[in-house]
Order: sequence, then structure tokens, then C-alpha cells
Amino acid sequence: MSTASVELPAWARVSERRLEHIGRVTELLDQWATGLRLPPEDARAWHDAGRLHDALRDAPEAELHRLAGDLPEYTVEMLHGPAAAALLEAEGETRTELLDAIRFHTVGSARWGRLGRALYMADYLEPGRKFSRADRAYLASQVPHDFDATFRQVLRNRLEWSLREGMRLFPEAVALWNRVR
Ligand SMILES: [Fe+2]
Ligand SMILES: [Fe+2]
Repeated sequence: MSTASVELPAWARVSERRLEHIGRVTELLDQWATGLRLPPEDARAWHDAGRLHDALRDAPEAELHRLAGDLPEYTVEMLHGPAAAALLEAEGETRTELLDAIRFHTVGSARWGRLGRALYMADYLEPGRKFSRADRAYLASQVPHDFDATFRQVLRNRLEWSLREGMRLFPEAVALWNRVR
């Protein structure tokens, strides 16, 4: 699938650069869904998770706060996940796993099944990011063969980075690590 074929809702607020990221994340999820021989309904949900996860990434801060509700621990960069999930839900989206994947993609969630975990990996492993290209490409290639071990490694990488940078560790991310380590 080419990035040009990713369709966004009318309410999406994304820059051109962001749209390219969304296209690459969606393409990776499509590849994994094919590699894992997911049933069409699941493959569609994986595709939609990629397509919609950053739909409000470049929305104005006030709009993000209004949509995401009261999340005092979240930085403004993290609000676009819960905000997009809230809008999708208000529009009638009922696929809970899809909503939770989008809602928590900036933090992580111990309640995630494969969909949330796949989106979390694709967001990090998509080939447009400039760091650790070879390592990340290798991990991306392993997802259809060893989903759980690859997820553990991606989560470990992301948590290690947060620690190194002196960032806050969110309890949701720590609970997720404790579940899969
Ligand atoms: Fe995001
Ligand atoms: Fe993203």
C-alpha cells in the first residue's frame, strides 16, 4: 500500500510530514497483518489503528485538552491519543481494542492485546525514523515470526530511552513491562 492511499477523517489535523509517518506506520501494520495471516476484520482494525492513531497530532493544544479530558500527568504531546479515541468514540466507533490502541499509544497499557502492541511497535519501528535504522528494520522483520519477543524488545528500548533521558516513567508503561518481561 502506498502512503497516498491512507484516508483520514475530515477532523484530522496533520502536517504533510506527519501524514507520511502515518502512511509508513499503516503500511507496516498491513505487512504484519498479512504476515500473521490475520482474518480480514482484524487486518482492517490494524490498518485503521495506523491510519487514525495520529489524526490529531497537530491539533491546537486547547482542542486536545478539550477532547482528551482531565489528564494532569500527560504532556501536551501525549494528548493526541486520548483525544482521537474520544472523537472516534463520539462518532460511533465501537471497536474497543482499536479505541484502546489509539487512546494509549503514547503511553502503553497493560490491558492491550495484540492490536495495541502492534501499533506501539509500528509507531517506533517505522522506517522513516532516523535512529538505529538497521536494528529497527530487523525488529520490524521479526514481528510476524516472534511477536511477543519483538514487542518485549521494543518496549525495553523505549523504556531505556526514557530512563536515559531522565523522562518520567508512566505507571501504565511500567505495568505493561511487568506483564511482558
Ligand atoms: Fe502519536
Ligand atoms: Fe505515530
